[in-house]
Amino acid sequence: MNRLQGKRVLLTGASGGIGRAVLKQLSASGAEVVITGRDQPRLKMLAADAPEQIQTFAADLTDTANLDALLAFCQQQGGIDVLINNAGISQFSAAAGQQLTALINTNLLAPMLLTQLFLPMLKQRNGTILNVGSTFGSIGYAGFTGYCAAKFGLRGYTEALQRELADTDMRVLYLAPRATDTAINNTAVKALNRALKQGVDTPEQVANALIEQLISGKKRRFLGTAENIFVRLNALFPSVVDNALGGKLKQIKQHFIGTGVKNSAEV
Ligand SMILES: NC(=O)c1ccc[n+]([C@@H]2O[C@H](COP(=O)([O-])OP(=O)(O)OC[C@H]3O[C@@H](n4cnc5c(N)ncnc54)[C@H](OP(=O)(O)O)[C@@H]3O)[C@@H](O)[C@H]2O)c1
Repeated sequence: MNRLQGKRVLLTGASGGIGRAVLKQLSASGAEVVITGRDQPRLKMLAADAPEQIQTFAADLTDTANLDALLAFCQQQGGIDVLINNAGISQFSAAAGQQLTALINTNLLAPMLLTQLFLPMLKQRNGTILNVGSTFGSIGYAGFTGYCAAKFGLRGYTEALQRELADTDMRVLYLAPRATDTAINNTAVKALNRALKQGVDTPEQVANALIEQLISGKKRRFLGTAENIFVRLNALFPSVVDNALGGKLKQIKQHFIGTGVKNSAEV
């Protein structure tokens, strides 16, 4: 795909920080977009900016009945050429307190099921799937056990599907943002990022990268220079990263244990 003009896109997590920035760019590119999230009034507000280009479908993606209804809605609207699996939740807490069902269902199972449901339509239209992963889909990080497990899974699923569809004209893409300034990160995560001097992107920077990737068709993209190096280092020499992160463990734990700060994102 060389341009997005007239393409039909399904964007999940459209009401979130990255989703809103992506929607803005998709609309400006002339794409027609079906947007989802759980909050219909928020979706309606977003659609009001370009009512002729944006259709809304409110749904909790962890409920499989909603996924079937979303497929039917998109079919009625004329189908889609691009599926962007962007919806996600996170939690920063000790492993014992992680809400694993919600983390896996939202970040991993929902995008896999949506992919399966939309695959026949996307194959017919030589379409594109773009899965939004994370740096934490390649680097296990203390305090994010459930989120890392889900995003590692999403990266594995995407890679397997890319290879399975390599003899078709469909494109399957994976984008791994680094820390980004959105509501998915609660005050404890934001404080940790500041303490560790972690580079943080704006949602607009991630949206620029995502649109670029949709146009270029680059299979995998990891945002952030240092993050890129860490991802490669972790794949080749995990003990080096064990040591680097081990040196920060006390600081990381201080941000989720006994600080009085609300530890987990609302999942
Ligand atoms: N921000 C970061 O630091 C960062 C870094 C790396 C990767 N990412 C990834 O980027 C993607 C977008 O995140 P963001 O930063 O934009 O987060 P965000 O602002 O919290 O937005 C999350 C979006 O997901 C939707 N969502 C959550 N649970 C849902 C469910 N059960 N059913 C339907 N929609 C649901 C939310 O909509 P409602 O709440 O209205 O339903 C919202 O639109 C996620 O996949 C995230 O893992 C983010």
